[in-house]
Amino acid sequence: MASTIEVLFTPAEFRALRQRDLTNTVCVVFDVLRATSCIVTALANGAAAFIPMEEISEALAVRRQRPDALLAGERDGLRIGAALTGGVEFDLGNSPREFTREKVAGKTIISTTTNGTRALRACTGAKSVIGGSFLNLQRTANSVMEMKAIHLLLVCAGTVENAALEDTLAAGALCDLLVSRSPAFERLDSAAIALGVYRQAESNLPAAFNSAQNARRLLANPDLRDDVDFCLRRDCFPLTPVLGTDGIVRRWG
Ligand code: MLT
Repeated sequence: MASTIEVLFTPAEFRALRQRDLTNTVCVVFDVLRATSCIVTALANGAAAFIPMEEISEALAVRRQRPDALLAGERDGLRIGAALTGGVEFDLGNSPREFTREKVAGKTIISTTTNGTRALRACTGAKSVIGGSFLNLQRTANSVMEMKAIHLLLVCAGTVENAALEDTLAAGALCDLLVSRSPAFERLDSAAIALGVYRQAESNLPAAFNSAQNARRLLANPDLRDDVDFCLRRDCFPLTPVLGTDGIVRRWG
């Protein structure tokens, strides 16, 4: 069966998904720096579930119903603190290196980030919604093949309101894996663009990755700079996070 691959690059595009029927669409959301890399790391380290929320107020409301859950997330890249919540300090920021086994094993994590958790929520109603990253790229490709998507939508979360190079590279790398495995994937022009960007950068991926706006912002912060190398590691956590119809992300399969 032929499948089409499409890529969305910006938040304006993923916000418009509300107007689309996604019932035959498998979505893979990439917020490589750093929301989806956090989800993959948390589940790899034994977190039970991850609840993506759009707003801080929603995250706080869910926490009141689940007092054992951890609150995670960022605004302007930094952990959400009392000044933004009316007094509550979040337990974790948005650095995947924080999501250690000691902190997250067995825990439910409620997270709100600038783009990543919003991109995940925007795909609500799709046949399946996967959290993708370089950390689980091959496994994501395997899961997409198993899910037999008629339409595959790669949703790049972007940086603030713009396209993000690191997400485009990851979407292109996934396209590369899929088209090399099956000629049945038909690329829309958006997928051809992502694939072209990836193939051009492939021979020196760290250089391209480090030049991205979001990477430069993280590299300039001594506490966060190691996140960039961490998130570029490929296939170290072979698992597939999937957003359920209950709005909760868990390990699939
Ligand atoms: C986001 O969701 O916009 C990002 O993950 C931002 C970040 O790097 O913390």
